[in-house]
Amino acid sequence: MPPKSTDDIRQAYLDFFQSKGHAIVPGASLIPENDPTVLFTTAGMHPLVPYLLGEAHPGGNRIVDCQRCIRTGDIDEVGDSTHLTMFEMLGNWSLGDYFKEGAIEYAYEFLTEILKIDPALLAVTCFEGDDDAPKDEEAAALWVKVGIPEDRVGFLNKKENWWGPAGLTGPCGPDTEIFYWIGDGDPHGNPESNDSDWMEIWNLVLMQYNRTEEGRFEPLSQKNVDTGMGLERTACVMQEVGNVYETDRMKPIMDRVCDLASETDLKHERIVTDHIKAATVIIADGIKPGNVDQAYVLRKIIRRAIRSAKQLGIETDGSFCAQISDEVVTQYGHVYGSIKKQEKMIADTLAIEEEQFGKTLQAGLKQLEKLIAETDGSIISGVDAFHLYDTFGFPLELTQEIVSEQGFSINEKDYETAFKAHQELSRKGAQQKFAGGLADSSAETTKLHTATHLLNAALRTVLGDHIYQKGSNITQERLRFDFSHDEKMTDEQKREVEKLVNEAIEADLPVSFHVTDVEGAKEENAIGVFDERYESEVKVYTIGEGDSVFSKEICGGPHVARTGMIGKFTLKKEESSSSGVRRIKAIVEGGAEEIEVASES
Ligand code: ALA
Repeated sequence: MPPKSTDDIRQAYLDFFQSKGHAIVPGASLIPENDPTVLFTTAGMHPLVPYLLGEAHPGGNRIVDCQRCIRTGDIDEVGDSTHLTMFEMLGNWSLGDYFKEGAIEYAYEFLTEILKIDPALLAVTCFEGDDDAPKDEEAAALWVKVGIPEDRVGFLNKKENWWGPAGLTGPCGPDTEIFYWIGDGDPHGNPESNDSDWMEIWNLVLMQYNRTEEGRFEPLSQKNVDTGMGLERTACVMQEVGNVYETDRMKPIMDRVCDLASETDLKHERIVTDHIKAATVIIADGIKPGNVDQAYVLRKIIRRAIRSAKQLGIETDGSFCAQISDEVVTQYGHVYGSIKKQEKMIADTLAIEEEQFGKTLQAGLKQLEKLIAETDGSIISGVDAFHLYDTFGFPLELTQEIVSEQGFSINEKDYETAFKAHQELSRKGAQQKFAGGLADSSAETTKLHTATHLLNAALRTVLGDHIYQKGSNITQERLRFDFSHDEKMTDEQKREVEKLVNEAIEADLPVSFHVTDVEGAKEENAIGVFDERYESEVKVYTIGEGDSVFSKEICGGPHVARTGMIGKFTLKKEESSSSGVRRIKAIVEGGAEEIEVASES
């Protein structure tokens, strides 16, 4: 029997490619580790870029995995049959090993012999050729050789049949895509002739170029294969359902939404299902709702889900999101252990956001109705839309969606102007606060300040990368450090943190800073909050050097020149500060009486 369930398809894919000599590797986080140019992991190849460029992969030159992906450009499409905020991409890679022939033969074998899909229901497309690369007659001939009839092979242009690079530069190449018949009646033609009758299920990228900064396509030192098969879409095919929300793992989540609802509206039911599912995994990967970057995307989708829930007549008093994420954990906890492990933290995070937004949603919607009623023509003022964001927490995209339901749009340019003016004001405010907090730089406070960096790094090592500074206050006597974490620390964790800090002090590590821009700081993985607080140029303080860098953090300073000056660190107290935030108080004793201040490296 061919695999039908989502779990069985995922496993069958990994097993099949393992049987063809591929090493199974775990999927990476949704938050790219070393790529500041994108917010989320967008494809299975993303974490593999260094290997596609020629570095040796520890698993060898054949790799297979299942990667969770987010394409922010697709979020607005959610509500139709096939687009999801987060989807699972099955992928197999050849790193300079097999090329076109192998890729096509494996794909055809998996589809027709493992999934047992009737070849009559398949069609493919190949690259039609341009100045950068020739028409891919070779791929087309290989498809015909394995069994795809000639009239099921189409040729399309670069927009359709070329993939990558993932950012502006990097590995890319022509691709060949596989489609499944979803039209009425008997299959006919191919996506070149009747596109809407065919649904793409798998993309095989024949990666042979590196796009340079100047926009040139240089041949790669090795030819790679990079493939991506949409797991949810493949599940639709195998389960013979017309949309991803009816597949086995998604349906129970949507059922839960419908159980709570008093109204029916397919689009809103799908938005809630998809958005809470994605939010659950994003939170597990270390993001909290906020106003910039990934945090903002997370906030947007949670708030959009809450608004859609309201449209369905669901009570959003703080417990609704968690009920849906509970079902997400039931359906996906065995695949994404991190959501199971952090179930409570995820539920609490969603509850906080729901409570906050729940309070202002009603008032904001009223205000918006008033705006619509008072608007002559069909364009709502950008300043008013900004006011909705600033006062009621309505993300622009949400306001846009709501007004467009009534045929209105928003003057985005004015919105941007209002937004920037506000940002500038709050930046100035934050700067003053910052300067104030560190105005006193005696020997004691400087030692405590450096100890705070050691503590921050140690907490991340012991508790995980979800730790971010939420506040810091230093007096002559003690440091106080607030950080994002939901649970009381155990005695063992406290001892471990204390031990790590004291070891770093005993190692007498050098401390120095350099100046870089925010992007540069992100690139070198400096800890920071990365919001409008920072100037375009920031100082990054590094504690340790070479292989033994203990901490790297954006900070104004000052700090001691060597950790040995700090003295003995003792963690005095660990307590709750506010919801989702813990507070540590600690002291240092017996360090140098006269300190030297860290200088520029
Ligand atoms: N990287 C290719 C894609 O995302 C496989 O479609």
